[in-house]
Amino acid sequence: MSKIVLVGCGQVGATFAYTVLLKGLTNELVVIDSNKEKALGDVLDLNHGLMLAHPMKIGVGDYPDCADADLIVISAGVAQRPGETRIDLMSRNVAVFDEIISQVTRYNRDGILLIATNPVDILTQVALKLSGWPAHRVIGSGTLLDSSRLRYLMASRLGVDPRSVHGMVIGEHGDSEIAVWSAASVGGVPIDSPEAGARWHLSPEERAEIYEETRTAAYQIIAAKGATYYAIALALARICEAVLRDQKSILPVSTYLQDYHGIDGLCLGVPAVVGRRGVEEVVRIPLTAEEERQLQASAAKLRQFLDEIGF
Ligand code: LAC
Repeated sequence: MSKIVLVGCGQVGATFAYTVLLKGLTNELVVIDSNKEKALGDVLDLNHGLMLAHPMKIGVGDYPDCADADLIVISAGVAQRPGETRIDLMSRNVAVFDEIISQVTRYNRDGILLIATNPVDILTQVALKLSGWPAHRVIGSGTLLDSSRLRYLMASRLGVDPRSVHGMVIGEHGDSEIAVWSAASVGGVPIDSPEAGARWHLSPEERAEIYEETRTAAYQIIAAKGATYYAIALALARICEAVLRDQKSILPVSTYLQDYHGIDGLCLGVPAVVGRRGVEEVVRIPLTAEEERQLQASAAKLRQFLDEIGF
């Protein structure tokens, strides 16, 4: 039996809850939100679809319901408005986390925290420090969504299924993220290998375009419809699936790094083995000197903000 508690049923949280239902990811889903009316509305709407999706127990709850939760997914907080960066949300969402983490840890001792609220790398670190839980049990959605965007854009240009493209974004889930082109491949053909030829090679100009579209995707979507929620909900559900089904999937999640390409003591998106214990192993991906420099720059940017808030 498995139980997920969702804290925050805004557009991301509610879409995540719907995704959990569609995928039949858990036996029980509890929704906590300061707006009880909204939480009730979402729960009723989801329960009315049970017969058409997967049987599961879905209800409105409060922090005591975290006691026996396997996963506590936090998407509560303010979201980016047009023109805002994720970092702009930091002080408001750190304040929100103080209350949430103290409430969650008051009732739960051995669950796994999955953070979606932005700036996600900083809030994953805040959750880690405030909870006092071991690093393997405090995970952020990281750059899984960015990696999915990168693979979609690569696949669109190459005319293949995004699931046959392997590319990864690491670092901050934000403006300083890094596309690891040196590790990109299509159907097992590294895009920089002689075998790639013209068919599977992406020129520097194409890579620059793809990277920029990946990096600025959220701004484009927010300007168009006010928020992003479908793909991030799928990313959160994918991480939950890897945990609850102990899949040992290697996913670029935000996790606490120690001695990782010269980075120590902060949460960033890097590939990690995700299973029932949470982040079970961090994967040290080979990087070119330039990629490593960019990752260290991403870390330095976040370190500066973490120092500002004392984390
Ligand atoms: C985005 C949000 C989840 O990148 O940060 O869509």
